[in-house]
Amino acid sequence: MGKIDIEKIIRPHLVNVKTYDAMEAPETLARKSGIPESEIIKLNGNENPYGGSQKAIDAVANTPLHIYPDPNQTNMRMALSRYTGMSPENIVVGSGADELIDLIFRLFISEGDKILDCEPTFGMYSFCARIAGGAVNLVQRDEIFDIDVSAVINGIDEVTKVIFITSPNNPTGNIATESQISELLETGLLVVVDEAYYEFSGRTVQNLVSENENLIVLRTMSKWAGLAGLRVGYGIMHKKLANFFMDVKPPYNVNIAAEAALIASLDDVDYLLGNVNKIITERDRMFELINALPSVKAWPSHGNYLMCEFQKNEAERIYVELATQGIFVRNFNSPRLRDCFRIAVGTSSDTDNLIAAMKAIV
Ligand SMILES: Cc1ncc(COP(=O)(O)O)c(C=O)c1O
Repeated sequence: MGKIDIEKIIRPHLVNVKTYDAMEAPETLARKSGIPESEIIKLNGNENPYGGSQKAIDAVANTPLHIYPDPNQTNMRMALSRYTGMSPENIVVGSGADELIDLIFRLFISEGDKILDCEPTFGMYSFCARIAGGAVNLVQRDEIFDIDVSAVINGIDEVTKVIFITSPNNPTGNIATESQISELLETGLLVVVDEAYYEFSGRTVQNLVSENENLIVLRTMSKWAGLAGLRVGYGIMHKKLANFFMDVKPPYNVNIAAEAALIASLDDVDYLLGNVNKIITERDRMFELINALPSVKAWPSHGNYLMCEFQKNEAERIYVELATQGIFVRNFNSPRLRDCFRIAVGTSSDTDNLIAAMKAIV
C-alpha cells in the first residue's frame, strides 16, 4: 500500500488546530482517580442529576433501530412547535445544540470571516471558528460578566458576520436582556442567542424571531430534559433561515432514539420542569453555602451551575484536592477564569459532600 503524507494534504489551518477542551467521561475520571465510577460525584458537565423522563426511556426502548429517522423532522418539529409556541417551519433539530452551532459555521463562515464572542463564554463557538478557518474577536464582558454592548458594536469590522451571545452565559450565569439583544440585532449581523439553559432561567428572546431574520435562538434537551447522552437540541429562527439549515444538514442528523426521546419528553414536561425546579432550589441553597465559606465567592447564576471564584492561585489546588476525593468540577485555562471553576448543581447529597470537602480544603 502506498504511503501518503497526511499533513501535506490536510487543510493547512487544521494541521495544528487547537482542539476543544472537552470534559472527561465518568469512566476516564474513575480510571484516573482510582475511585469506582459509582462513587464519583460528577459536577463538571452541567448534566441533569435526575436523568431523563421514564417516558423517554420507554420510548427509546420501544424504537425500531433498523429504520432511518425522518429527514424532515416532521414529528419532532410539531412536538417542539407545541412546546415553544413557534411554527414547525421556524424550528430545526440537531444532534445536540452543538451540531446547530457547527451548521451555523457551514452556512455563514468562510476562511477569513470573523465571529464575535463575549468572553468568558462557552468554547464551542471559537472552536468551530478555528475549524472553519475563521477568526474570533473576543470582546470582554464587563467586571460583573455582563455583555458590554458598545464594546461589541465597536468590535465589529467588515469581515465580522456572526455575534454569539450565551444566555444564561456558561460559565458565569448572566442573562442577556431583550434590549441588549435588540440593540445587537440592529447591527444587521447574524445574532445567535444560545439559550441552552433556558428552562432554568425562564428568560428567552424567541419572541424577537418573527421580526428579525438575523436572529437564531438555540436550545437543547441535554440540560432540563436530561438527554445529554442522546444528543438532541434545536434552533428557533425565521423560516427562510430554517430552510437553509434543512438544506445543508446531514439528512439523518438526529438519530431515531433521540427523536423518540425528544417527543416523549415533550409529553412529560410537567415532570421534567418539576426536576428543573428542584435543581433551581438546590442551586440557591448551594449558592448560600458556598458564599458562607471563607475566601470563596459564588457568582449569581440563572443556569444549573455556579461559577466560584477563589483567592489568587487557589483554584487549581482546590480543583485537584476535590478530584482526589472523587468530586469533579470544571476548571478553565483562560486568564480571566484562572482563579475560578464551575460547579454543576447536583442532588442535595452531592451539594452536602461538596461543601464538606470544600470546607476542609479551603
Ligand atoms: C451554552 C451551551 N450551548 C450549547 C451546549 C451544547 O448543548 P448540546 O448538549 O445540546 O450539544 C452547551 C453544553 O454544555 C452549553 O453550555
